[in-house]
Amino acid sequence: MPSVSYSSKVENCDECIDLRSDTVTRPTPEMRQIMANSIVGDDVYGEDPTINALEERCAKLFKKEAGIFVCSGTMGNLLAVLSHCQRGEEIIVGKQSHIHRWEQGNYAQFGGVSAMTVEIANDGTLPLKEIEASIRGGDSHLPTTKLICLENTHNWAGGKALSREYLRSVRELADHHKLKVHLDGARVYNAAVATGMDVSEIASYVDSIQMCFSKGLGSPVGSIVVGEKKFIDLVRHKRKAVGGGWRQAGILAAAAMYSLDHAIKTVTRDNKNAAILAKGFNDRTPNHLKEALHANEEGLTNIVVVRCANGVTPSQMVSFFQERRVLFMVFDDHRVRLVTNWGLTDEHIPIIFEVYEEFIKTLH
Ligand SMILES: Cc1ncc(COP(=O)(O)O)c(C=O)c1O
Repeated sequence: MPSVSYSSKVENCDECIDLRSDTVTRPTPEMRQIMANSIVGDDVYGEDPTINALEERCAKLFKKEAGIFVCSGTMGNLLAVLSHCQRGEEIIVGKQSHIHRWEQGNYAQFGGVSAMTVEIANDGTLPLKEIEASIRGGDSHLPTTKLICLENTHNWAGGKALSREYLRSVRELADHHKLKVHLDGARVYNAAVATGMDVSEIASYVDSIQMCFSKGLGSPVGSIVVGEKKFIDLVRHKRKAVGGGWRQAGILAAAAMYSLDHAIKTVTRDNKNAAILAKGFNDRTPNHLKEALHANEEGLTNIVVVRCANGVTPSQMVSFFQERRVLFMVFDDHRVRLVTNWGLTDEHIPIIFEVYEEFIKTLH
């Protein structure tokens, strides 16, 4: 059983510096004001002007025909897979990708879709050869592969962003085999800023994207799925079937609009803070502990992974920080994860380094 728990509740920690995830941020007074003032209507009837505006804005932003606002990343990914695939068809997905590992195999539960899983590489890619070797069909014993699912940035790989060259190669491979590509882009803005690509360029290599407003972009709820109009129509139809038809959810779409207005600034700051933290930890780690504690500094977005070894454990580090009101997450048996987010201020960074220095002193 994997030891990671994504629901590590912490009691009495309103004043904590919370880097367990970028989902923990709370709406600012300004965002709340905008939400309160939003114009709303019944979205099942297509009458919520704020949701309609958000969907149109996202379609333009990603240069796709249409978009649909859904309640979560999980719902967006599920509806995208079920709209690309029929029962008995198959996806190719990373073994450590969110769609496969942390969404309960919902594509199989609700859609009768099967998966060929591929071990992800350290850079968050599904190796092209492995993708190709996983394609099935043309024989009565086999399901037919329909879809390749990528994740950008890749959470389990420590927030790695996919390169232009890789995305292009997957597109070519998919076209060659007449497959579709779906991107779990929960943190695609972080990827765009890190690679210098526009989100529309990333979108140009895939058929559909799910992007979360509730992660690095700081909204309380919601994701967008974009793609061709007929695909989005199908997603909309299926969204109603899973109980995802909104009513006056323009209140939430208004928060998403606000997040988009500030996206580049927010994500640039978060990616930069992650780099400051990773380097700051490594600079403060004495030589004799370099093997025991190492923060990844390569290809960073807003996720920092600290590798623990030689008797130092992730839970030891996480507990030490938690007692001092700084929250990280035990990622697995060897890794601690911290995710920078818009709740992290410039004043917090020296505090985190002070705690790290104290922690170092407890290690011999
Ligand atoms: C990469 C990735 N995809 C999808 C999701 C699912 O998003 P949600 O929690 O909104 O369902 C997450 C959540 O952490 C994620 O990290």
